[in-house]
Amino acid sequence: MCGIFGCILRRGLAAPLIHKGLKRLEYRGYDSVGVATLDGGVLHIRKDAGKIDEVAERLSFDEMPGAVGVGHTRWATHGAPTMVNAHPHVDCGGVVAVVHNGVIENFQELRRELEEGGHRFVSKTDTEVIPHLIEEELKKGAQPREALLRAVRRLRGSYAIAVLFASDPEHIYCARNESPLIIGLSEDGAYCASDIPAMLPYTRMVAWLRNGEAAILSAGGYEIIRISDGSRVDRPLTEISWSLKMAERQGYPHFMLKEIYEQPQSLRNALRLQKTYLDLLAAFLDRGREIFLVAAGTSYHACLAASYMFSKLARLTTYPVIASEFIERYGSSIGIDSVILAVSQSGETYDTLKAVEYARMRAATILGVTNTVGSTLTRVSRAYIVQQSGPEIGVAATKTFTAQLLVLAQLALRLARMRGKISQDEIDEFQEKLLEIPSIVEEVLNRSASRVEELAEKYKDEKLFLFLGRGISSATALEGRLKLLEITYIPSLAYPAGESKHGPISIVEEDVPCIFLCPRGETRRDIVGSIMEMKARGAKIITLCEEGDEEVKELSDDYIEMPKGIPELLSPIPYVVPLQLLAYHIAVKRGLDPDKPRNLAKSVTVP
Ligand code: M6R
Repeated sequence: MCGIFGCILRRGLAAPLIHKGLKRLEYRGYDSVGVATLDGGVLHIRKDAGKIDEVAERLSFDEMPGAVGVGHTRWATHGAPTMVNAHPHVDCGGVVAVVHNGVIENFQELRRELEEGGHRFVSKTDTEVIPHLIEEELKKGAQPREALLRAVRRLRGSYAIAVLFASDPEHIYCARNESPLIIGLSEDGAYCASDIPAMLPYTRMVAWLRNGEAAILSAGGYEIIRISDGSRVDRPLTEISWSLKMAERQGYPHFMLKEIYEQPQSLRNALRLQKTYLDLLAAFLDRGREIFLVAAGTSYHACLAASYMFSKLARLTTYPVIASEFIERYGSSIGIDSVILAVSQSGETYDTLKAVEYARMRAATILGVTNTVGSTLTRVSRAYIVQQSGPEIGVAATKTFTAQLLVLAQLALRLARMRGKISQDEIDEFQEKLLEIPSIVEEVLNRSASRVEELAEKYKDEKLFLFLGRGISSATALEGRLKLLEITYIPSLAYPAGESKHGPISIVEEDVPCIFLCPRGETRRDIVGSIMEMKARGAKIITLCEEGDEEVKELSDDYIEMPKGIPELLSPIPYVVPLQLLAYHIAVKRGLDPDKPRNLAKSVTVP
């Protein structure tokens, strides 16, 4: 997730507005920043790694000449956060400047083709193919509008782009597929931005571009066209009534809720991983004598779930370990044959990095899964995957958890294929389901939101909760419980359901709410027995079960129905979503701020 802001004014300098606009998009990314302006047919570009205000001051953004320009604040996905990788990117002749938010899936093949045709690339980004593709079309004689359309038709993946042509200082060209882009108009000019907050100081009259659309902005107006055939789209502007605070959260009252609802998109991004990196990680995992999945908090829960995936799909035994326990527990056996797969959203968690450093010193192979390019984890890993969820502001991890799970599921499947442990049919079937996960999560959000809110109202004053699941659902239970615990402060326990009778059941008395994860699959039969045990002791049974699972529904005091046909190994992704919502709504109903839980920090970088 990155931020784009562009404007074309009737008079005055565009750059100071771009600087301010980017500042309001800083929550979308902040590792590097850049601006391109056009003045007298000449492109001016200033960019560097660093925070917006610091770079803007150092490079005097506000003094850049020209009434038209585009800017970008970056959250690195391809290529480290460096000056060269910062946007805008240009073609060989330096006459086309592009800022981009999204991920171009086929950039490697496009880059190869363009390089063979003589184009010179300077960055490691996927974005850089876009100005070169446009340049190629200009060389063939196309005008900017046609060159843009032809170029973006070749892109696969997600993009919101804003483009300046030195030959056409009267326009900004935009296009979108899957990444957001809004255009706006005022008396003073026209604007484009990734999000509403950047627009609000200049205009409240906006239009959303839809997938497959392009827009051409001039100081006095705009035109929206379809990328497929260049035909015109009539879309009037809408007036935005949101306050700035509401706008920063896209109308959601809290970042946590916004991020919960972003999951279909962050999961789509997580499916766009470069297959070469997945293969590389899978190859290292395959070679290891012992594999440790090391992480903290929510990321540890993702590791726990992944250990079931690696075992069932790839027949590979892995050891999920809480990072702060790793050295004490396994340190003495770590050596050159050990593989450490460290999972960390921030890539900066002290405990995880300490475990990694320890293992590195003993010549173990370090692999990483993170959301943060350029983080310490990416620097110390032999190979790593970036999950591409964009920045997460809420302290409670939500969208980054489900994206971690999807990345790890893809990795397990690659490994299964590599090791030849399951049949082609099984691989194909699982792959098909993987691709459906973003839509399944969308469906869960649509179907369960109001039901979860009702349950939050009913159970908001409880003093204790139990979360129980079997198999991979025990990881879902742990994560659901962590969400509730960290933002509502309600004491709660989570256990593999089979273990509950070995102790935890002693705290169950009349009306204690017990949340059961009951996806269809190998554990479904046994979970019924666990429900009965709790029911016999008077617990209130709340279940997440598959639509039409009458047996579980009959045993439940309350239930949330989940879509049919979700493979058990992927169930933590959709099944955790109602639990995230439950924690969120209970926190809000208890008058707490879910974005700022007490005593917690987003990234724990201290011992
Ligand atoms: O950045 P990391 O994934 O390494 O962070 C690990 C934990 O600190 C983090 O998941 C924490 O538990 C969250 N607050 C959970 O919501």
